[in-house]
Amino acid sequence: MTIKWGVIGCGGIADRRTIPGMMLADNAELVAVMDANSEAANNVAEKYGAKYAFDNIADLLNLKEIQAVYIASPVFCHKEQCYAAADAGKHILLEKPMGLTTAEAKEIDDYCHSNGVMLGVGFMMRFHSYHQKMRELIAKGRLGEIVSARAQLTCWYPEIENCWRQDSKLSGGGAMMDMGIHCIDLIRYITGLEISHVTGMVGNQIFKYNAEDAGAAVFKLENGALCYVDANFNIPDAAAKCKLEFYGTKGSIFAEGTISQAEGGRIEVLCVDDAGGYDAGQTREEIRPVEVNVQFGNMYTKEIEGFGRAIAGEGEIPVAAADAILSQKAIEAVYESSKSGKTITLGAD
Ligand SMILES: NC(=O)c1ccc[n+]([C@@H]2O[C@H](COP(=O)([O-])OP(=O)(O)OC[C@H]3O[C@@H](n4cnc5c(N)ncnc54)[C@H](O)[C@@H]3O)[C@@H](O)[C@H]2O)c1
Repeated sequence: MTIKWGVIGCGGIADRRTIPGMMLADNAELVAVMDANSEAANNVAEKYGAKYAFDNIADLLNLKEIQAVYIASPVFCHKEQCYAAADAGKHILLEKPMGLTTAEAKEIDDYCHSNGVMLGVGFMMRFHSYHQKMRELIAKGRLGEIVSARAQLTCWYPEIENCWRQDSKLSGGGAMMDMGIHCIDLIRYITGLEISHVTGMVGNQIFKYNAEDAGAAVFKLENGALCYVDANFNIPDAAAKCKLEFYGTKGSIFAEGTISQAEGGRIEVLCVDDAGGYDAGQTREEIRPVEVNVQFGNMYTKEIEGFGRAIAGEGEIPVAAADAILSQKAIEAVYESSKSGKTITLGAD
């Protein structure tokens, strides 16, 4: 079954990544695009062969043939646009973070639920072949009990005038909400473990916009493992490796460059059958890495195909809102911890 899509917000991620991914999907057809900036909508429609380009959301939502919308507008627009799409009976794939706050994200989820439309969230990094392989290795017990993890995502983001992402009131937060959220989402997804406690700090060291230009946090997982996430807007792109690491009682996974907008990067997996007793000499014998073979694909194509299959009744929503909300909640707790100087316990609500 081919799902007919409308795209709301034709800026960076939609134009550069998701629409090209949609073009390769085996169950998707791009029908219409909409952007507040009509030039952006017209350009994207022409580039990808969409039949319609609008600068008004109502016009797009009035199209009966559209079954699903991909919303990639600035975060402050998400709630109103999701409500409008849900009123029009369109299923929604919404970019992260879902809303300005966790409360807003829950309202969006509830609204979609009560209108009977599906809501999925754009944590496309879950579809990276290496990330899926890591999840598989950990689920199989190859690392033993997970005791630690670290995820890092950075970019160089100097002050830009009138930039919604640099204003927390419009974005919901800076480096942590924009990029750290991918890191914590991957740690949750790959380990299959939920977060119980959060201690974090955010601040502005280099850039003086009101969203933080850096954040770092320690997350305690439900099994007691301590995990680290750091997100910076103030490290040059060429100087960052965007590391992702997992450690367990039987091994580790080291990755570089997999936390990214394109599939790629490097991975090394080291496993032991038995860690043995304490080695006072700390000889640290070198072991041969586990061979890992994956076939890279396009994360956005997989994201669109997966959501399309869910609409067709052929599978679950790949990243359902209730799941995505837990990643946003963890990031919100970093802000709360930074403000209060206290460790935040995440409740079950
Ligand atoms: N999954 C990822 O890795 C990833 C990467 C980048 C961005 N994002 C998310 O995608 C969303 C958009 O980010 P971006 O980087 O593409 O932003 P952007 O600023 O590059 O593009 C946003 C577009 O939305 C348009 N717009 C503004 N107000 C609008 C409105 N009311 N209705 C329709 N369009 C409107 C703008 O004209 C612009 O073309 C955000 O939620 C962001 O967090 C996700």
